[in-house]
Amino acid sequence: MTADPKTIGMLITWAQHSLDASGSMNAAQEALWLLAYALGMKHHELASRRDQAVSGEGLVRAESVVSRRMVREPLQYILGTQEFCGLDFHVTSAVLIPRPETELLVQEVLREGGFSEGAVLVDVGTGSGCVAVTLATILNGMRIFALDRSGDALAVAKENAERHGVSEKITWKEGDLLEPLRECNLSGTVDAIISNPPYIAEEVWGGLQPEVRDFEPRMALVAGQRGTEFHERLLRDAKEFLVSGGVLVMELGEGQALFVRQAAEQVGGYTGLQTVKDEAGIERVMIARRAD
Ligand SMILES: C[S@@+](CC[C@H](N)C(=O)[O-])C[C@H]1O[C@@H](n2cnc3c(N)ncnc32)[C@H](O)[C@@H]1O
Repeated sequence: MTADPKTIGMLITWAQHSLDASGSMNAAQEALWLLAYALGMKHHELASRRDQAVSGEGLVRAESVVSRRMVREPLQYILGTQEFCGLDFHVTSAVLIPRPETELLVQEVLREGGFSEGAVLVDVGTGSGCVAVTLATILNGMRIFALDRSGDALAVAKENAERHGVSEKITWKEGDLLEPLRECNLSGTVDAIISNPPYIAEEVWGGLQPEVRDFEPRMALVAGQRGTEFHERLLRDAKEFLVSGGVLVMELGEGQALFVRQAAEQVGGYTGLQTVKDEAGIERVMIARRAD
């Protein structure tokens, strides 16, 4: 910054210009969110305090958050929060930022539902815990397990469970895919396996926008050469753990439905295969029921 902005109004103008120059598509709004966070105000308060002097400390914090955004760090990591299903989730660079399309996964689990008292639900690749924690705030009397290979992600997920008062409803396990269920003796006992797995193909990853490629955990995004490797593994491995009639509910990437359906048919042992489209008309969720 060449000359220090002396007032909040000058700071807003500087932040908007800086973000605009760095390629932000929403510089005006982002400047307000970032400055409100840096100065500890509500963003609507900024406009009414344009003439207020900025403290040296406030200026340092503002410069720090704006420069992080200028190198395309996602706003959610800077602000430390993302809303999902009406709840605020703490997010750090250890976890995928929850996406709106994943709300459909939660809705479909609840719609399929009909879970009886003591039913066992498993969220595989829990990340921020957005799926497991949301389900735990809605459902009572269930045994919910949340699994992830990343210990750092599980730490964030546990914090989110505490934030929403559902810690005692969720059991956390670190490990590869469904492996942790084995040590819990859950073979043939699970009513629903729910997953938003990594589903980006290796070759697609390099072309993703910098916010995603350079900041979100690669392990949360990339599945392998096809992009459907985790779906295929889940279809194969879930059968051991699901009760007869239990459901596997998975989020899909755009264009993956046909391939995953074929994989399910090849693996066999499932009935009632169906996909659900999201608001953009993309087949986003696949539901498969363990046959008798
Ligand atoms: C697409 S993110 C989903 C996160 C969260 N459920 C959501 O919907 O926002 C996939 C998650 O799977 C986890 N993961 C990746 N490979 C895994 C594996 N082999 N076993 C278990 N979890 C894995 C990642 O750490 C990440 O948290």
